[in-house]
Amino acid sequence: MARCLPLFEALVDLGAGNCEKAARLFAPFDVRRYVAVDISVDYLRDSLGILRRQHPHMELLGVGMDFSAHLALPTEAGPGPRLMFYPGSSIGNFAPDEALVFLRQVQAAAQGGGLLIGVDLVKPGAILEAAYDDPLQVTAAFNRNLLLNLRRLAGAEFSLTDWKHVAFFNQTESRIEMHLEALRDATVRWPGGERRFAAGERIHTENSYKWRREDFAALLESAGFRDLHCWTDERNWFAVFLAAA
Ligand SMILES: C[S@@+](CC[C@H](N)C(=O)[O-])C[C@H]1O[C@@H](n2cnc3c(N)ncnc32)[C@H](O)[C@@H]1O
Repeated sequence: MARCLPLFEALVDLGAGNCEKAARLFAPFDVRRYVAVDISVDYLRDSLGILRRQHPHMELLGVGMDFSAHLALPTEAGPGPRLMFYPGSSIGNFAPDEALVFLRQVQAAAQGGGLLIGVDLVKPGAILEAAYDDPLQVTAAFNRNLLLNLRRLAGAEFSLTDWKHVAFFNQTESRIEMHLEALRDATVRWPGGERRFAAGERIHTENSYKWRREDFAALLESAGFRDLHCWTDERNWFAVFLAAA
């Protein structure tokens, strides 16, 4: 990958989290300036604090923002060109038309640099469903945690035991859908309102779109990227694309 990189002045990590994936690129990609972007500001501050101790000679900057609606980096991010980094399969949380709008903004923000992006590929439905409904119930806990957040942020009185996690692959839309399904009739109240749910009624909580490799390449080109490189695992279940902006 390092041999195929376009020239860049800064590595911009979109949804940096604990910054661990990006940090592994610092040496092989010879990164001088790192810009970590995340909506979760406190967590980002802690992650960058650790990185600063490990890389005292690098320029490290944190930017707290929600890039889903509009991606505009502050001037502190420094001049381009930039290598935009969007690992994992977060792009799958955008519907295809939204992904195109988002990638066009990433292309503009790269200022002539490039994009390194991960994408989860279409694979047998049973494999996908097992990943989103795992035996340890990790994804179920993640999904139901939404109800705890609704309780905390909006005062909504969800009883966690009234709801079960449901995940399935929607072939037509090429996406995993996650839902929370009411196990029994339930009334949810919050300050100023209430909503009755019938047993079996679902709240659609998340989509994760799965792409065919050639369709994702076409999407990148529609967003203005060129000189595409692509690496996959040997089963073609996951891809990493590098493209020039
Ligand atoms: C699945 S984690 C990935 C973390 C890290 N990049 C990795 O691959 O290990 C997604 C990260 O994106 C951040 N995030 C999610 N939506 C965001 C948004 N709209 N704007 C900015 N950051 C966002 C989350 O706070 C979280 O840290």
